[in-house]
Parts: sequence; C-alpha cells; structure tokens
Amino acid sequence: MKTYNSKHRILILGASGFIGNAIYKELLGYFRTYGTYRVPKKIFEDNHQFFQYNVEEDDVYEILEATKPTIIISCLRGEFRAQTIAHQHIAEYLLEHDSKLIFLSSANVFDAYSKYPSYELDKTLSGSIYGHFKIKIENMLLRLPKKKVAILRLPMVLGSQSPRLKELKQHLEDKTAIEIFPNIIMNVTTDSKLTQQIHYIINQNKYGIFHLGSTDLVHHDDYFKDIVKQISSKNGVIYKHVYTTNEDRYLAVLPKFNKLPKHLEITSTEVLEDITK
Ligand SMILES: NC(=O)c1ccc[n+]([C@@H]2O[C@H](COP(=O)([O-])OP(=O)(O)OC[C@H]3O[C@@H](n4cnc5c(N)ncnc54)[C@H](OP(=O)(O)O)[C@@H]3O)[C@@H](O)[C@H]2O)c1
Repeated sequence: MKTYNSKHRILILGASGFIGNAIYKELLGYFRTYGTYRVPKKIFEDNHQFFQYNVEEDDVYEILEATKPTIIISCLRGEFRAQTIAHQHIAEYLLEHDSKLIFLSSANVFDAYSKYPSYELDKTLSGSIYGHFKIKIENMLLRLPKKKVAILRLPMVLGSQSPRLKELKQHLEDKTAIEIFPNIIMNVTTDSKLTQQIHYIINQNKYGIFHLGSTDLVHHDDYFKDIVKQISSKNGVIYKHVYTTNEDRYLAVLPKFNKLPKHLEITSTEVLEDITK
C-alpha cells in the first residue's frame, strides 16, 4: 500500500476533464487523490479512486462523506443552477470540517469591463451568463473564512490535449474556418503551468484570489495565427474575423497583490512553445 507524507486527502470534482485530469496526474504521486467523472469510461470505472457524479442528479455531500477531503478542487462544468447548489453544499462541508476549496473561476468575471486588464481586487462585473454564474459562486465563497478558499481566475487554458487545440487541428484538417477575434486582448496559460501553480498553492497553504494569466498580453487573432503557423505548414488557412465591438477589449487577468514566485509565471511565448512541443 502506498504511503504519503502529506496529511491531505484531495477530491477533484471534474477529474475526467481537460484541466481536472491534468491536476489529478500532477497530484496523484504526492497525495491521496480522488476524482469524479460524469460520462462512464472504463479507465475511470476501473480506478477505485474515481466516483461517478452528475451535478444535476447526485448530491455532492455523499462523495464528500465517502472521501473526507481536506482539499476540494472544483473543475466542473454542467448546469449552472445545479453547480450553484453543489457549491452551497461544499461551503457547508467546509464550515464543518478542516477543509479548503480551490475553485477554478475565469477571466470572464470581468467580461463587462473592456478598457483595462483586471487585477485581484477589482470589482467583478460580467455581461455573460457564464461570467454571472462564476461571480455568484465567487461571492458565496468570499463570505467563508478566508483561509478556507482559493479562487483561481483563469484566462484561456491551452495545452497539446486541450479541446481548443484539437478543434483548431480539426479545422485545419477539414479546411473549415477558424474564428479569430481581432479586438480581444487577452492572456493565456497552459494546463501544465496551472497544475504546478495549484501544487504550490496546496503545499504552501495559500488562499485568496489568484490571477493566473501569462505575464504579457496578446491579440487573439495574432496569437491564433501564431499557433497555426507552429502546428501546420498548410497554405490557404481560412479565418473568420469576428468583431464583437469596434474598439479593443481586454479579457486579461494579471496579478498585483497575490503573486506566485517567478518560476511559476509564464509568458505567451512559453505557452506557444509548450503547446506545440
Ligand atoms: N479550459 C479553459 O480554458 C478554462 C478557462 C477558464 C476557466 N475554466 C474553468 O475550469 C473548469 C474546468 O474546465 P475544463 O476546460 O477542464 O472543462 P472540461 O474539459 O469540459 O471538463 C469538465 C469536467 O466536468 C465534468 N462534468 C461536465 N458536466 C457535468 C455534470 N453535469 N455533472 C458532473 N460533472 C460534469 C466533466 O465530466 P465528463 O468528462 O465525464 O463529462 C469533466 O470532468 C471549469 O469550471 C471552467 O469554467 C476553464
């Protein structure tokens, strides 16, 4: 039987997904780590650390009772109302146990602002249903004792296995149009940098709000063209330019108050190198 130095028991909600699975693989060797999946797959069904969980049908409390996590990492997607109720139950669990939640939020909590990049203490405001939902959960969590919660606001997360890169490759294969947004200025990151950052946050017992975007910003259209150049030598790539506004819009999360060490920072060029390795 494997022994762990750490007292932590970790539960990853959404451990079958792109980010959740990358976190599972990063933490597996160091902590007793459990995960959930929704769609049945043999690889998860055969793994006794995995539980089938559908946020719309099952009560998260049963999985919390079965795994008794000291750290819960929420990487879920699914119906927003059901996710809100699940996070209310998680909040109750946190208050009753020596346990902490790491919640994956998004740069979209600022998507109603457009003129500047956003920092940790800026007021959130969203014009999208997704952004609204993330703000609602964040606000609920921010009412808990502050050491019990880490909110990670993520920009676009890329990686060789990311759904976005796969979709891009499919468009190139099918010779169909790739959507680019010339007015959006954003930052980016990779699943591998994010998992290192989460590992550090766990080890160092960090809490609060983290902005985990690359240190520099890029235009969406230029960046996607750079990715395409790296992964394909084909000519005649078709782009569809999507203009959401007349002026440039920022969708970027930068750290000012809650910074991680230098080796855990990433630049957009490093993201590009990583995803096309
Ligand atoms: N990817 C990004 O660029 C990005 C950027 C900002 C924030 N985020 C946030 O990061 C988190 C993870 O994103 P991701 O890109 O890794 O998503 P993903 O690949 O779609 O994974 C979502 C996970 O949630 C599970 N899930 C979906 N519907 C569910 C339901 N009804 N009940 C229970 N579980 C369900 C999936 O299980 P199955 O695989 O079995 O369906 C999977 O494990 C999300 O909260 C997202 O908002 C992601």
